[in-house]
Amino acid sequence: MVIMCFLKSKFHFWLLFALCLIKCSLEFDPDDNHLINCGSPTNASVGNRVFLGHSSVNSSIVLSTPHTIWANTSSNSIPFSFSSDLYKTAQIFTGSSNYTFSVSKHGRHWVRLHFFPFVYQNYNLSHAHFSVSALNFTLLRNFQSQEDIPVIKEFCLNITSDKFALIITPSSKSFAFLNALEVVSVPDELIPDSVKTIDPPGSSENLVHQALETVFRVNMGNVTVDPRNDTLSRQWIPDGSFLRSHNLVQFLSQPRTVNYTEGGTTKEIAPPSVYGTASKLNSELDPTLNVNLTWYFDVDPGFKYLVRFHFCDIISKSSGQLMFNVYINSWYAYKHLDLSRVTSNKLASPYYLDVLMRESHSNMLSVSVGTSSDASVYPNALLNGLEIIKLSNSRGFLDVDPESLKSRSKVKAGLIAGIAVGVVFVILILASAFFLVVRRRKRTQCDVYGNKVDGTPESGYQFSLAAIRKATDNFNESLVIGVGGFGKVYKGVFEDNREVAIKRGNSDSQQGLNEFRTEIEMLSHFRHRHLVALIGYCDEQNEMILIYEYMEKGTLKSHLYGSDNPSLSWKQRLEICIGSARGLHYLHTGSAKAVIHRDVKSANILLDENLMAKVADFGLSKAGPDIDKTHVTTAVKGSFGYLDPEYLIRQQLTEKSDVYSFGVVLFEVLCGRPVIDPSLPREMVNLVEWATKLQKKGEVEKIIDPNLADQIKVESLNKFLETAEKCLAECGLDRPTMGEVLWNLEYALQLQEDEAPSIESDDVSLQIDDARPLQTLPSTRQYSLESAGDIVDISMNTVFSQMRNGNLK
Ligand SMILES: *[C@@H]1O[C@H](CO)[C@@H](O)[C@H](O)[C@H]1NC(C)=O
Ligand SMILES: *[C@@H]1O[C@H](CO)[C@@H](O)[C@H](O)[C@H]1NC(C)=O
Ligand SMILES: *[C@@H]1O[C@H](CO)[C@@H](O)[C@H](O)[C@H]1NC(C)=O
Ligand SMILES: *[C@@H]1O[C@H](CO)[C@@H](O)[C@H](O)[C@H]1NC(C)=O
Ligand SMILES: *[C@@H]1O[C@H](CO)[C@@H](O)[C@H](O)[C@H]1NC(C)=O
Ligand SMILES: *[C@@H]1O[C@H](CO)[C@@H](O)[C@H](O)[C@H]1NC(C)=O
Ligand SMILES: *[C@@H]1O[C@H](CO)[C@@H](O)[C@H](O)[C@H]1NC(C)=O
Ligand SMILES: *[C@@H]1O[C@H](CO)[C@@H](O)[C@H](O)[C@H]1NC(C)=O
Ligand SMILES: *[C@@H]1O[C@H](CO)[C@@H](O)[C@H](O)[C@H]1NC(C)=O
Ligand SMILES: *[C@@H]1O[C@H](CO)[C@@H](O)[C@H](O)[C@H]1NC(C)=O
Ligand SMILES: *[C@@H]1O[C@H](CO)[C@@H](O)[C@H](O)[C@H]1NC(C)=O
Repeated sequence: MVIMCFLKSKFHFWLLFALCLIKCSLEFDPDDNHLINCGSPTNASVGNRVFLGHSSVNSSIVLSTPHTIWANTSSNSIPFSFSSDLYKTAQIFTGSSNYTFSVSKHGRHWVRLHFFPFVYQNYNLSHAHFSVSALNFTLLRNFQSQEDIPVIKEFCLNITSDKFALIITPSSKSFAFLNALEVVSVPDELIPDSVKTIDPPGSSENLVHQALETVFRVNMGNVTVDPRNDTLSRQWIPDGSFLRSHNLVQFLSQPRTVNYTEGGTTKEIAPPSVYGTASKLNSELDPTLNVNLTWYFDVDPGFKYLVRFHFCDIISKSSGQLMFNVYINSWYAYKHLDLSRVTSNKLASPYYLDVLMRESHSNMLSVSVGTSSDASVYPNALLNGLEIIKLSNSRGFLDVDPESLKSRSKVKAGLIAGIAVGVVFVILILASAFFLVVRRRKRTQCDVYGNKVDGTPESGYQFSLAAIRKATDNFNESLVIGVGGFGKVYKGVFEDNREVAIKRGNSDSQQGLNEFRTEIEMLSHFRHRHLVALIGYCDEQNEMILIYEYMEKGTLKSHLYGSDNPSLSWKQRLEICIGSARGLHYLHTGSAKAVIHRDVKSANILLDENLMAKVADFGLSKAGPDIDKTHVTTAVKGSFGYLDPEYLIRQQLTEKSDVYSFGVVLFEVLCGRPVIDPSLPREMVNLVEWATKLQKKGEVEKIIDPNLADQIKVESLNKFLETAEKCLAECGLDRPTMGEVLWNLEYALQLQEDEAPSIESDDVSLQIDDARPLQTLPSTRQYSLESAGDIVDISMNTVFSQMRNGNLK
């Protein structure tokens, strides 16, 4: 009772103290709080903490060292202003040295070592090479500090005697240094005695005798939390640089709503500035999309890691709205985590989860949160903070063998250098391209104000605005045959009775100029029976207009569902698939570098009067008859429902992304329903998900378009399904090439038509004869610069198009 009162009054004292200081939110009063400003005679304040200069250190800290060398610098290259005083001085150790601290409370303590190298007399601190150990644990081993930002190494040790010694040992012929040093009590609740493992799940790991090192302490929401804003003076770094899938993330910040409740997670576990910010799945994404938000961390292989997840539902308006999965590498850390359940329905109440990863050979640790398939609610997932804590190994080491470190850092340095060169290269190309675009645009505008002859292009492919106005009855709304992000598509008739489709860009369209150029470049270089042909363009008076051959029967989509068009037969459908596969195959293989369409979908496959399929829309409008609701303007290019998950997550674009989208089209063709149909029960909303599920159960007949009933031969269906399924393989490498898809579809057609099909393997896939050799329209020359025109064209193509494989990934 007495003790309780004592604790309480002490608590109140500190609370008042904290309130007096206003800025300070220290509620935990560490029993041991040794802070040293090494190498300096004077104190340094960091927030409300005072790091003692040597003249203020009393007998509770004893330093034993062969020579006392205090180093200082006047350099003001130190990036962190709030603690920069700490990093202007350092103690240099030329021989084995030790600090001995009096410890008033046994238990876990943080040992934080601060390093920021500078040059002092003939000591270049970047060259220091040393080890640090304590309690028989090797904390640093042949360590060298060469970063140009202050580095804080944080260890957590269970001290069980009244004296604690920290031993600093320079490597042979070298020396050691320290800018600042902390030995501070840790609240008992912070580190549990044991943690459950997840790989495999079921067992647990005892932490009591382990030394720990914090290797990453990350605040989600991409916001730094500096030690002054943390209840235990911890530094939290932003998560942006660890996120691989920037397209998927949304950063949130609303620290005021965090509600710590009695008996729950405390501010010591993590402060409001951590729980009040989060990274969540972007809610602009298609809600039926199954995705993960993933962070990647470089770790030393061969160690166990304690991973602590911090969650706080700062997005829901009422409880029970959020459920998601949590993963480390490919293990479940928590399946179907329902935050409102684990926090007893208290909204915005912090919650943390500890799991232990066993040793692995990988030097990468990935952490994901992802939508849970069982969520009966709007799917989302979030993470507020993350700590990755290394456990000492069986030999008491917390640091890796320096030799293996050396070889690894070489690889890394090479990689970084490579990336840097790549980035510079890309920037150079972009810059020159921008310059050229600007110049070209000016130039073409001057050129274009000429005398144009109505109806017939003056020089090949450039049309006058007057001719286009005439062909479309001055852009008569009744002639609109398609609407999309880029603008409207009109049916037009030129004076020579030629029917055309005229795509007119919004002058305020953001996609604008680049995509306009891309489409002209692409279509003028790639002529093929199964690609919609470009007839010309017009860029008069800031208009961006493209003229295509008119495709009488409209989009494939409009023949599958949602219109009055008569249903297509199975054979017609197969032929259409084969035609479009040919077009795509040609794009992928018809020139030295693969061209990736990036927006393959049934609304971009057009049919002529004979139902021959042609692929359209090379990064421009959505030429469907509908306003495509599934298209979302995030940085991801393409249409939801069709997007390659690998591209979405890794942003690595290959031909196989088109193959994936084409696989989606194949299912659409088979089932005659939209790829995303929000009106259906949740499990059926996403066609691909639903079809894959049924296919696994062998019940795929259930979703075949009823109009096809009894038309499809089993062999043909099986071949088709097998092909579609392969296209949808999770990993691009496992997907077939477009050529293989084509071959299989042709086979499926033969299986449908013949009693006993025989396949001659050479007329097969490639159908080179069908793909007419590359032809460049003379028009491209017309708007290129007079000299070196061709070279310019090549670089233009390279740059514009994220379409081209291998350049701008
Ligand atoms: C340094 O700080 C300590 C603790 O706050 C204080 O007792 C001491 O007087 C200070 N020393 C100087 C030189 O200001
Ligand atoms: C030394 O100073 C610390 C504060 O830095 C104080 O807590 C401790 O009681 C002092 N010890 C002695 C022996 O004076
Ligand atoms: C470093 O310390 C010495 C001795 O205290 C002092 O004379 C000198 O001015 C200091 N230099 C800088 C750059 O602070
Ligand atoms: C610390 O250093 C002193 C002097 O070098 C030595 O006598 C002592 O044993 C050392 N203490 C530890 C724990 O290493
Ligand atoms: C100190 O060492 C680093 C790392 O080797 C080097 O980059 C730097 O130029 C050196 N500084 C001086 C002043 O020698
Ligand atoms: C360190 O290891 C030695 C030998 O194994 C042992 O005698 C000593 O007690 C250990 N020291 C600590 C602080 O655990
Ligand atoms: C520290 O170690 C002692 C003795 O090994 C143990 O009893 C105690 O529970 C440990 N404390 C923590 C916080 O792990
Ligand atoms: C601490 O956090 C608050 C709000 O989270 C912010 O306004 C303040 O600037 C932060 N202070 C520091 C020193 O970062
Ligand atoms: C995170 O923040 C940094 C600096 O504020 C910024 O450069 C970076 O682009 C952000 N990361 C993301 C993924 O937005
Ligand atoms: C925090 O939660 C408690 C218990 O659920 C509730 O009574 C209180 O109003 C909440 N406070 C805030 C600021 O939301
Ligand atoms: C999310 O990540 C886990 C673990 O890597 C993986 O098993 C799962 O398939 C992923 N989910 C999606 C939709 O990518």
